[in-house]
Amino acid sequence: METLLLQNTKKDILRAGEILHSGGLVAIPTETVYGLAANALDGAAVAKIFTAKGRPQDNPLIVHISHIEQWSRLVESIPENAKALAQAFWPGPLTIILPKSGIIPDEVSAGLDTVAVRFPSMRTTRRIIDAAGVPLAAPSANLSGSPSPTCARHTMDDMRGRIDAVLDGGECNFGVESTVVTLATPVPRLLRPGAVTPEELREVLGELEIDDAVLGQLKEGVQAASPGMKYKHYSPKAEVTIVKGSLDGFVRHVTRETSENDGGKNAFALCFDGEECVIPLHCVTYGKQDDSLTQSHRLFTALRELDEQGAERVYARCPSTEGVGMAVYNRLLRAAGFSVVTASNE
Ligand code: TXA
Ligand code: MG
Repeated sequence: METLLLQNTKKDILRAGEILHSGGLVAIPTETVYGLAANALDGAAVAKIFTAKGRPQDNPLIVHISHIEQWSRLVESIPENAKALAQAFWPGPLTIILPKSGIIPDEVSAGLDTVAVRFPSMRTTRRIIDAAGVPLAAPSANLSGSPSPTCARHTMDDMRGRIDAVLDGGECNFGVESTVVTLATPVPRLLRPGAVTPEELREVLGELEIDDAVLGQLKEGVQAASPGMKYKHYSPKAEVTIVKGSLDGFVRHVTRETSENDGGKNAFALCFDGEECVIPLHCVTYGKQDDSLTQSHRLFTALRELDEQGAERVYARCPSTEGVGMAVYNRLLRAAGFSVVTASNE
């Protein structure tokens, strides 16, 4: 299949809408990451997303709307706390899970009785949804397991030949996926951290639990509340280890590791801006140490760059887990397959 590259023009947005309306797949920009969209109400169209991505069948999709009025058809009912969240954060990078209505195909909810809904803030995304005339189911537009794409080139790299079109809307603003919160549990629960932080959610909800899978690895046999969080994910081809501790400790750690290990060949550091001059490895940077927003914007691009530069082994500086930093750490932890070490102080 030839994959069209569409532009952010009225004509091409209408074209994307037609393809989606007739059951095709189009990768679309959003303010978080590129999404691989299909008509959310057409089970057969949604099934093609799983094939194109190589996505496990048990991992449900987010449904994207362009007007708040479209929400009520998708869910059983909208409780007061959901309305308050929508009022505070929509349109924007927040996904809200509620019990689903009868029109949601099983392919979308992957057999669960809930549905995740998001009202994106990017204008182009909403225009595409309007042009399609239906809500759009869209996971991130990467091949399953790879870092989510944050520009049209990365999307094309993964999806060329697999889908009908990619619409180029430029670089994504946030660069990590939306915050996912479920209101289908007795106490609201954060399933995936993103640009809307736990502190901001607590201000509106009063109470919020953080799912165990957010900052750790689920034990074998424990059922994941958010199926997507149980997989190794967002990974470059290289083997990644997060090294906690000071910059000095990091430098000593990688010096020791790489001298024992093949003379440091193809070992890279994923570090903060300005640290390149003291780290004795090839470096790819992902923002300043105290700037979580820039880190979230650059992390997935940095992971792809490591692949492009042929990295086989990556030592990553550990980000802060405060605020948006929780989302950055959550993604990096999965890219590292949960491999974290602490550099000793001597
Ligand atoms: O920012 C985003 O959310 C992007 C853009 C394209 O909107 N989309 C995205 O979708 O990241 P995806 O499929 O890559 O991640 C959706 C996450 C997965 O971890 C999935 O398991 C979880 O949300 N999820 C979806 N529906 C769910 C449900 N009903 N219950 C629990 N988790 C759900
Ligand atoms: Mg994804």
